[in-house]
Amino acid sequence: MCGIVGYVGERDCTDVLLDSLSKLEYRGYDSAGIAVFENGEITVEKAKGELKNLREKVAEHKPMGHCGIGHTRWATHGEPSDINSHPHGNKRVSIVHNGIIENYKDIKNFLIEKGYTFISETDTETVAKLLDYYYEGDPVDAIIKTLKDVRGAYALGIVFKDFPDRIFAVRKDSPLIIGAGDEENFIASDVPAILKYTRNYYLLEENEIATIKSDRVEFCDMHKLPIKKEVQVSNLDMDAAEKGGYEHFMLKEIHEQPNAVKTTITPRIVNGMPDLSECGLTLEALKNYRKLFIVACGTAMHAGMVGKYVIEKLARTEVTVDIASEFRYRDPIITPEDLVIVVSQSGETADTKAALHLAHDKGAKVLSVVNVKGSSIARESDMVLYTHAGPEISVASTKAFSVQMSVMYLLAFEMAYAKGHIDENECKRLTAKLAEIPDIIEKTMECEKKCKYVSSKLITAQSLLYIGRGLDYALSMEGSLKLKEISYIHSESYAAGELKHGTISLVEDGMPVIGVATQTELLEKTVSNIVEVKSRGAFTIAVCKEGTEFSEGVIDEAIEVPAMEDVLMPMLTVIPLQLIAYYTTVLKGLNVDKPRNLAKSVTVE
Ligand code: F6R
Repeated sequence: MCGIVGYVGERDCTDVLLDSLSKLEYRGYDSAGIAVFENGEITVEKAKGELKNLREKVAEHKPMGHCGIGHTRWATHGEPSDINSHPHGNKRVSIVHNGIIENYKDIKNFLIEKGYTFISETDTETVAKLLDYYYEGDPVDAIIKTLKDVRGAYALGIVFKDFPDRIFAVRKDSPLIIGAGDEENFIASDVPAILKYTRNYYLLEENEIATIKSDRVEFCDMHKLPIKKEVQVSNLDMDAAEKGGYEHFMLKEIHEQPNAVKTTITPRIVNGMPDLSECGLTLEALKNYRKLFIVACGTAMHAGMVGKYVIEKLARTEVTVDIASEFRYRDPIITPEDLVIVVSQSGETADTKAALHLAHDKGAKVLSVVNVKGSSIARESDMVLYTHAGPEISVASTKAFSVQMSVMYLLAFEMAYAKGHIDENECKRLTAKLAEIPDIIEKTMECEKKCKYVSSKLITAQSLLYIGRGLDYALSMEGSLKLKEISYIHSESYAAGELKHGTISLVEDGMPVIGVATQTELLEKTVSNIVEVKSRGAFTIAVCKEGTEFSEGVIDEAIEVPAMEDVLMPMLTVIPLQLIAYYTTVLKGLNVDKPRNLAKSVTVE
């Protein structure tokens, strides 16, 4: 949802900004732009579309300087165009913005009355011009006055013509870090943008103002009182933000799953038992929760669905899974005896964050399962379990899903034990099975060729169905989301038993139907639903355990995955579903890592 960067130091500023922006393109790629101090003036270059368009433009006229800001955009207010691209402002002040200004129309009307004119349709331009309106020689004063008038979410990088040696930054409800280098400093929406230059960074808290020069960074609050900050050190793998020989980030990230899961679960298995006490989730606490709510969006919500099935089955505790944008407005019945679990890769998703706030308002404790260290959701939760997937760059989430599921398993096993529904031996047995999963995921990758072949049968489809029961239904939802978001082929996921209540009328000759059929107890039932669609002309694909036998003529293509404990099958089943989405998209010649209209981190409602 937009990425912002900034640089001040001895290097070629344009090069640094373009390089840093390339690490944030996952946040939006509708346009990109930079503002660089060149001979005391602010030179702005912008271009609609992906960063490469800006690179081409800049190749013709490269702003030469040592201080500047940059932006990659996911359009909210105003269509993707050169004019609406950031930076915005005038000769005196230029800004880049991530977020949404809710009262921008009022601000705009006020400024028009004061004689200002506007060239873009963006909310951001109103903030830039308001800064200009309030500016009387002291940038921090202008920022404080401006923020008092502004309502909404923002991370802002700001430059003032009168101060060509510094950048100003401030944030509320949108992420921003300040990279601390040696005689050079940075701002960025996310750590990978600065990793090439430094591992040290400061976390900017809400409404703290940073003044960033090459040799120093100063922080103050809204009363101009100085703030002291600790430097954080990132342990992210620098190569994690590179494709490392893979054609796309998505494929790389699919293949990173064994390691991501291993890194996430290994430190949380102590003497063969799950141990989540690092965040305060003790056996005693787990025993006493009355009910769990798992709240998330998209893929993260599907991990929550898996969590629900497994926790209810093993820990006999009621779990409600909610889409965050629904949860926040449906006045859920939460009590202080309940635990609300929010799941988010980015830790910045606006609806999920709002769900967290709602849970707090209702007096419940919040546990977050988050991938990005120091993100807003992590910081605002009572307890955090970090997943260790490393940076996920491809817009379609893959490895984050697997690590989220793996945490759900640890939670389910430990809670089942805490509540006395399984004994220590059974808990250890299940945990040992989970610990084997990384190696078995590796083995599951052997289905890649078959998935590619099956994908070649899908590229001309107008629409398809994913069906399954129980845990297989949760995985059908994830498979369907993955396919539609990157291949643009419409698909629906349906609980297999629900088909004949309406949806089966969609099935016609040749329509692909992917039946996820890994759950032993439900296998016969799912197969009979596959038979029902087959007899209406569907092209049937089964994702099933190795060795599953189907009657002749029921399945056109079977993709087998290693057979594991039923409850753990989602960790394996997801692999072919991800690969099918990936290869279908590649074969259609589409942009796998940057599907249209999407952005990785959805920081607006
Ligand atoms: C789909 C996808 C999205 C995200 C959703 C939540 O591939 O990536 O559905 O899962 O936007 O994002 P986070 O997990 O960052 O809260």
